[in-house]
This record gives sequence, structure tokens and C-alpha cells, in this order.
Amino acid sequence: MFDFIHITDLHILPPGETNYGLDPAERLRMAVESIAARHGPGSAAPAQFVVATGDLTHHGQPAAYAQLREILEGLPMPFHLMLGNHDERDHFRDAFPEQGVDQNGFVQQAIETDSGLFLLLDTKTEGTHAGALCDKRLAWLNARLAESEGPVFLFLHHPPMSVGISRMDRIQMADAAALADVLAPHQRRIRHMFHGHLHRPLAGSWRGIPFSSIRGTAHQVALDLSERETVPGSHEPAAYALVRVSEDAVIVHSHDYLDQTNHFDL
Ligand SMILES: [Fe+2]
Repeated sequence: MFDFIHITDLHILPPGETNYGLDPAERLRMAVESIAARHGPGSAAPAQFVVATGDLTHHGQPAAYAQLREILEGLPMPFHLMLGNHDERDHFRDAFPEQGVDQNGFVQQAIETDSGLFLLLDTKTEGTHAGALCDKRLAWLNARLAESEGPVFLFLHHPPMSVGISRMDRIQMADAAALADVLAPHQRRIRHMFHGHLHRPLAGSWRGIPFSSIRGTAHQVALDLSERETVPGSHEPAAYALVRVSEDAVIVHSHDYLDQTNHFDL
């Protein structure tokens, strides 16, 4: 058995700046405190690492990445970072030179764990909020899959499927068919796919692959399935997920870490 944390859409700004009426840095600090208390070494469910599935910052400024680094250094376990449409690859790499990149400079890395291979993909595409995996990034993914045999866990900021929220569906991952072609020969050993981008708790399957996404740590996206030109924002509770991987199951526990309601014995 193996536990890790999935966190997403942090949307950090430079110090002192707020967004939609809340301070994303304060929200992330509270998430870090919660993760350290509940899943640090010696806790009942220690997590081996944290994966952040993109939109680390809101506008990608160096000052935002510097603040992000200062906050994440409060985590008592390693963290692995990915890019989203709001990020800037060069500024990210300057601030986090130790984070893995592929041979072309995309923020993609393969992490070997006791439970299988974690493949973190870079769907950031310049000039658009939609995502994509170009031929180089797909070739990297194809090579990692070809050289491995065991279970695989995939992480992408952008989901490769429509979810019914009109504006988000227009900025999903483009050319999902190309990704599906690369994954198809390995589908039976892909145990789960984790997304960000949607700022919503969501689970299902895509072409037979189970997936989940969770709320971000800052602002959220409302469940509004009407046709509209803007993203339906909301201030639903912030969350991260404790993911438990065992031989026969992948369990995703979404945790509303700001919840203040009483806990009691039923
Ligand atoms: Fe986001």
C-alpha cells in the first residue's frame, strides 16, 4: 500500500495580491499545514509525496513562483510539480531547477514508485488556454510506456474529454485521439489518470481508463451545464486528495481541508 497527495490549481500570485476575493497563497499555506499534520511522517497515513497537476500560478510571474516555492518548502515530503495553462514554462524552470524535465525541456517526468510508474505530462501550449501534447511530448510518453511493463499512473493538467461545462470543454486537451492512440496498447495496465484544470471533483472513465479530478486550493468552477461564454466561477470549498494505491484498488479521498464542522462518533 502506498499513499500520496494530489493537489491542483493553486493559482498563486505575487505576495499580497488577491484573486476573485481570496488570497491563493493563504489557501495554499493552509493546505500545506493540513497535509503536514494529517499525512506527514509519523502520522496515521503518511504520504510519500505530493503531485501538483498544474496552474501552479495565475499569471506565471517569477514573484509568484518564488512565493510558491517558499510555501511548498513547508511540506514534510517531496513534491512533484506540473504546468497548467496559466503557467509560464521558463519562469517555472528558473524557480524550480530541480524539478524533472524531458530532453526537450518540457516539464515531464517519470517517477518509479513501489506501486508502479508515475508519468507526469506537460500539456501547456503557448498562446491558448487549451492543452495539447505535441509529437515530441507524445514520443516521450510512448518511449516511457514502451520501456516499462508494470502498472502506470498518468497525470495531465488538461482532461482529454468533454465534461459538459461549455467554456471548459472549449479549452480541454486538443487532439485527444493522438493520446488515445499512444495509450491504447497499454490500456490494461494504466490504473488511473489524474487531472487538474476543471477545479471540480469529478470521476469517471475515458476510453476504459479510470480518471479523477479535484477542486483547486483557490477559486472553483461551478457545476453549470448551460451554454455560456465564460467559466462559471464559484467559491465552493477548497480541497486536496489523499490517494491510496493498493494491489487491487486506487482510492481517491477528496478532503475539504478548510471545513470547520464538528467531527463526532456516530
Ligand atoms: Fe486552473
